[in-house]
Amino acid sequence: MKLTLLFTAVAFTQAFAQDSDAWDQYHFSTWSPPGPSDVRAPCPMLNTLANHGFLPHSGKNISEIDTINALSTALNINQTLGEFLFQAALTTNPEPNATTFSLDNLDRHDILEHDASLSRGDFYFGDDHTFNQTIFDETRSYWTAPIIDVQMAANARLARVHTSNATNPTFGFTQLGQEFSFGESAAYILVLGDRVSGTVPRSWVEYLFENERLPLEVGWTRRKEVITFPNLIDLLERVVNATGIPLQELKRRGDFHAGL
Ligand code: HEM
Ligand SMILES: *[C@@H]1O[C@H](CO)[C@@H](O)[C@H](O)[C@H]1NC(C)=O
Ligand SMILES: *[C@@H]1O[C@H](CO)[C@@H](O)[C@H](O)[C@H]1NC(C)=O
Ligand SMILES: *[C@@H]1O[C@H](CO)[C@@H](O)[C@H](O)[C@H]1NC(C)=O
Ligand SMILES: *[C@@H]1O[C@H](CO)[C@@H](O)[C@H](O)[C@H]1NC(C)=O
Ligand SMILES: *[C@@H]1O[C@H](CO)[C@@H](O)[C@H](O)[C@H]1NC(C)=O
Ligand SMILES: *[C@@H]1O[C@H](CO)[C@@H](O)[C@H](O)[C@H]1NC(C)=O
Repeated sequence: MKLTLLFTAVAFTQAFAQDSDAWDQYHFSTWSPPGPSDVRAPCPMLNTLANHGFLPHSGKNISEIDTINALSTALNINQTLGEFLFQAALTTNPEPNATTFSLDNLDRHDILEHDASLSRGDFYFGDDHTFNQTIFDETRSYWTAPIIDVQMAANARLARVHTSNATNPTFGFTQLGQEFSFGESAAYILVLGDRVSGTVPRSWVEYLFENERLPLEVGWTRRKEVITFPNLIDLLERVVNATGIPLQELKRRGDFHAGL
């Protein structure tokens, strides 16, 4: 028995050493929920990547190269976009001159984390990072067909803004928070769906949020074309436009995606 295990371990190690594709395949087919000392984020995708082991399963001390490799290997995200997202994440680590971040650093309110999330409560109500089915059900109710389009994504996001505005006396967005809010609605279309038509199967998006697992078993596969910064900006602007806010007005209010 011991020998069999050892043999299996050696065989696996050799296979992975010779063939990095086999290692990647291993992460796609491996998944486990966070353990008691693991940390997670308000981001359904980063939690997913940690659950699969594309990012450290602990969720802690994530370096730039960890981030770039995970986003590229799992999701086909361009390195430049990966670097940008890592640099944004780093600003949430309270340690001076940090070179890594931990997923729970992202909970810090009004750095990247913002009100009116699609599946999390507002900071004011005490928990801005744990998946909340009640809130997600409100979001889902605006995805009114099996294929989500840009208009449905915009409607769902705006409904959450209206609910937060009506119930949270401290409701507000920073400029960056608002950009991230639009960017997140763009991101689930872009990373899971079709960037040209701006559509994504609703079942894939629901599966990601509710299971924090890549929606492979419901038919999703890693996108074949590399996902770039301009792709994200294009979809973000389409979500802004579908919200009925003139893009020019958002740009005037601050240096709209000057950092992007
Ligand atoms: C290093 C990379 C990333 C960082 C630092 C990051 C950071 C964050 C943060 C801080 C939030 C919380 C915002 C809020 O208050 O709701 C968030 C939410 C979100 N992220 Fe990420 N994210 C990253 C990558 C991705 C990717 C690749 C996707 C692709 C699908 C994604 C999709 C989302 C979505 C859909 C939400 C909204 C969740 C909700 O509103 O309930 N993120 N992300
Ligand atoms: C790792 O992250 C934890 C917090 O998640 C922090 O306390 C610790 O200092 C970090 N260690 C290193 C080596 O960066
Ligand atoms: C990533 O995007 C940058 C600019 O956005 C581009 O210069 C680079 O060639 C891209 N890399 C890949 C692998 O697509
Ligand atoms: C952080 O970096 C700055 C600039 O390089 C340096 O002056 C400072 O001492 C560093 N702080 C810590 C805690 O290492
Ligand atoms: C989820 O959100 C709803 C609506 O804001 C709230 O009433 C409920 O307490 C939240 N659930 C948890 C477990 O925090
Ligand atoms: C929030 O509600 C106030 C009062 O009804 C309104 O003036 C404001 O425009 C709303 N903000 C957003 C972002 O909807
Ligand atoms: C958004 O709307 C503006 C103004 O109508 C338009 O110029 C722009 O091309 C639109 N953006 C996208 C990405 O469709």
